[in-house]
Amino acid sequence: MSETIDALLAPFPRTSFLTWSTPVEPLSRLGKHLEIDLRVKRDDLTGLAFGGNKVRKLEFYFGQALKEGADTVLITGAVQSNYVRVVAACAARLGLECHVQLEERVSGQDDTYRSSGNVLLDDLLGAHRYAFDVGEDEEGADARLHDIAAGLSQRGRRPYVIPLSPKHPPLGSLGYLACAAELMRQGALDVDQIVVPSGSGLTHSGLLFGLRALGWKGRVIGICVRRSASAQAERLARHIDRIATLVGTSSPVKDGDIEVFDDVLSPGYGQLNDAVSYALRLAARLEGLLVDPVYTARALAGLIACSGDGRIPKRSRTLFLHTGGLPALFAYERDLRAQLGRATPHPTGHR
Ligand SMILES: Cc1ncc(COP(=O)(O)O)c(C=O)c1O
Repeated sequence: MSETIDALLAPFPRTSFLTWSTPVEPLSRLGKHLEIDLRVKRDDLTGLAFGGNKVRKLEFYFGQALKEGADTVLITGAVQSNYVRVVAACAARLGLECHVQLEERVSGQDDTYRSSGNVLLDDLLGAHRYAFDVGEDEEGADARLHDIAAGLSQRGRRPYVIPLSPKHPPLGSLGYLACAAELMRQGALDVDQIVVPSGSGLTHSGLLFGLRALGWKGRVIGICVRRSASAQAERLARHIDRIATLVGTSSPVKDGDIEVFDDVLSPGYGQLNDAVSYALRLAARLEGLLVDPVYTARALAGLIACSGDGRIPKRSRTLFLHTGGLPALFAYERDLRAQLGRATPHPTGHR
């Protein structure tokens, strides 16, 4: 069955960064606490420079960059972007120059946020950093990155821009078609639902597309980390159409397959709330499992909320996709310490 995906991916140039299948592990103590059968797919262990979901996506962007003869890559991300950090690592591994634009997306952050965590690693990995202080503006950020690329071309470099705006072909989502095939090969699809963080939506849409292409009928539940459920659902539908065009097949995704919840999103991207900080501590203290403050703790908070109110039925089998992001823990030290100092009861009544 997984050959279906292999055939869809075969035409695309790909650079291999991930040389193993990430493990699937039981989360027995956390599952017991939530009264569900819970497992985790450890995509935080994709390997390169603290890993995460971006490693899978970048196999395809770097494949294309190398095919085009690039010697330099450029990318935009939030100040604490995991994507940017992994791009810097991939570029270093391949001997390419790396230019990164850090977008001011989260207000009220301190100096540690601006210098520790992923930013420290970007510097360590040798990336050239630029600030984009306009705030969130995907197309504006892409335009500015193309200006930087044009300047580099004039100096004789051969730049490749990894785009931010969703108008571009969703190459990165192919990494999650590959992950769907990996889950099938691992025998890990004996679950009722898979819960994923949904940000740019490339992970969520790629996984959903891949799983449906394989004929898997379970639910893929996206927890919004960045925008409202209605905006995210529209974005995911567009991604799905673009993936179908990219791989040259009709979409196997049906109306109703796109499921997203945004009830733990407030106050917004990259900002802790009680549910997120509770999820982070619960995973750490019941499983010794670390999740990050921006993506995976929020996704886990969404999973906890869904298991508390029946959106995830009691005793059902649930796979949580851990997409990494752990260096950001250190950038959020101030906020995490403030939360650690409080005995926060969970908003939906979980202990
Ligand atoms: C650790 C981590 N998890 C999840 C996501 C969300 O993935 P996507 O942007 O594909 O929706 C990101 C995106 O930046 C991330 O860095």
